[in-house]
Amino acid sequence: MNQLKAGDMIPDTLDETLTAKLQGWDAQHHLHPFTDTQTLTKAPPFLIDRAEGCYISGAGFRILDAMAGLGCVNIGYGRADMAETARAVTERMTYYHNFAAVAHPYGAALAGTIADKAGMGQARVFFGNSGSEANETLVKLAWAYWRIKGKPEKRMIITRDYAYHGSGIFSAALNGNRSMIDNFGLEHPDIAHGPAPYWFRCSEGMAPPEFGEAAADAIGAKIDAVGADKVAAVIAEPIQGTAGAIIPPKTYWPRLETICREKGVLLISDEVVTGFGRTGHWFAKDAFGYTPDMMTLAKGLSSAYAPISAAVISGEIAEVLHGEMGLFQHGYTTSAHPVSAALALKNIDILESEGLVNRIRSDIGPYFETAMRRLEMHPLVGEVRVMGLMCGIEIAKDRRARTQYPAEFLVDEHISNACLRRGVILRAVGNALVLCPPFIIKQKEVDTIAAALKEALDEIYAALKEQGYA
Ligand SMILES: Cc1ncc(COP(=O)(O)O)c(C=O)c1O
Repeated sequence: MNQLKAGDMIPDTLDETLTAKLQGWDAQHHLHPFTDTQTLTKAPPFLIDRAEGCYISGAGFRILDAMAGLGCVNIGYGRADMAETARAVTERMTYYHNFAAVAHPYGAALAGTIADKAGMGQARVFFGNSGSEANETLVKLAWAYWRIKGKPEKRMIITRDYAYHGSGIFSAALNGNRSMIDNFGLEHPDIAHGPAPYWFRCSEGMAPPEFGEAAADAIGAKIDAVGADKVAAVIAEPIQGTAGAIIPPKTYWPRLETICREKGVLLISDEVVTGFGRTGHWFAKDAFGYTPDMMTLAKGLSSAYAPISAAVISGEIAEVLHGEMGLFQHGYTTSAHPVSAALALKNIDILESEGLVNRIRSDIGPYFETAMRRLEMHPLVGEVRVMGLMCGIEIAKDRRARTQYPAEFLVDEHISNACLRRGVILRAVGNALVLCPPFIIKQKEVDTIAAALKEALDEIYAALKEQGYA
C-alpha cells in the first residue's frame, strides 16, 4: 500500500525505513518537473525535508542554497512570521474566489500594492498561480487589446533565443530552447523567435554598448520582417535568468523600448525572476530605465511561500480594455487565493521593513559581486555577470577566443556537482552556472559560496587537464 497510515502526517523526523519508503514511492510514482524519470531509478531521489534561512537539509546533510530554491525564496526559508500569516488567513477565511465582482481584503490590498509599486500608471493586476499562467494571460490581453483597437491581425508575439517564459502550451512555445518546443510539437504560428542580447556568445567583436544597440535593432528587424501590422508584442526577460543570467548591455533596453513604441508593438517585460528586488531595485525595468506595457511577476512576489503570480497591465492598456472588452472570460479557481495573497503582502512588508532590497543595492550585492568577480580570471571562466544578487558564470575553454567545451562534456554540471560535494547548491545551465541566493545571505555565506566555487573550478580544471582537454 502506497500510503502512510490513515491520519498520519509526515513525522517530525524521518527514520531510515520511512526515508527509503518515501524515496521508493517518489521514484515509482512522482513525475518530476524537468527530470528524466530514468535518473530516479538509477539513484534514489535527493530527499530534502527541512529548510531554514539560506539552508536546506535532509538525512545527514545541510546545504547552503545559493539558488534560493529556483530563484524565488528571497526572504529565506522557514520564517515564523510567514507561517503565522498563513495560519491566520486560513482560519479567518481559507478561500473565496474573485469571480463576478466578488472581492476579499487580501486580493484587493495586493492589487493596490503592486499597482503602486509598478510605476505603470493606473495599472491593473490579474492573479494566477505561476509565471507560465501570467505570461499566457498577458498574451491573451495583448490580443484582446489589438482586437479592440480594430487590429485583430496583430497577433504575432516576438520572443528571443535563450528565453524562458514557462511550461504552458503557449508559454513553452515562447521558450528559446528548441527541445522544449520540439519534444511536444508546440511550434506556434503566432510566435517568432529573434536573437538574444548575449554579448559573450553572440557579439562577434562588438563592444558591449554597440552590441546592445545592434541586438535591440535585430528585434526591430524581426518586427519588420513579420510586418509591424501583424505583431502584437515583444516578450522579454530584463535579464535572461534561466539561460545563465544574461545581462544585456545598458544600451539594449532603452533602445528596445523605443523600437517597440515606434513600431506600435506592445512590450511585455517578464520579471518573474527579477521582480521584487533581485537586482537591488524593486523591478529590473527601473534599473535598466524602461517602462513596459505589461509585466509578469511570480516567484519573489510571495518568496514562494505559496504559489501566486501577477499579470500587470499599464494604466493605458487597462483603460482601453475597461472601455470595450466587456466580460473578461478568463480566470483560475485560485486566482488571488487569500492565503497566497496575504503571504505576498507579508513578503513585501518584510522586504520593506527589513530593507532587503536596499541591502542588495548598497551592501550585500556589491560584496557578492566582488566575490564572484574574483573568479573571472580562472582558466575555466569566460565571463562573470553580476547584477544585484544574480550571477551568471560563463564557462569557456578559451576566454579570448570565446570557445566552449563540447556540451556532452557537461563541464558546468561537473562543477555544480563539485560544489554540491562542498555543501553549496548552484545551477548548471549549459556551459554556464547561475547563482541567485536569498536576500538575507550574510557575507560569510557569500565567502563560503565563493570558496566552494573556486575549489570546484580548480578540481574540474585539473581533471580536464589530466585528460588532455585543457
Ligand atoms: C523569466 C521566467 N518566466 C516565467 C517562468 C515560469 O514561471 P513558473 O515556473 O512559475 O510557471 C520562469 C520560471 O523559471 C521564469 O524564469
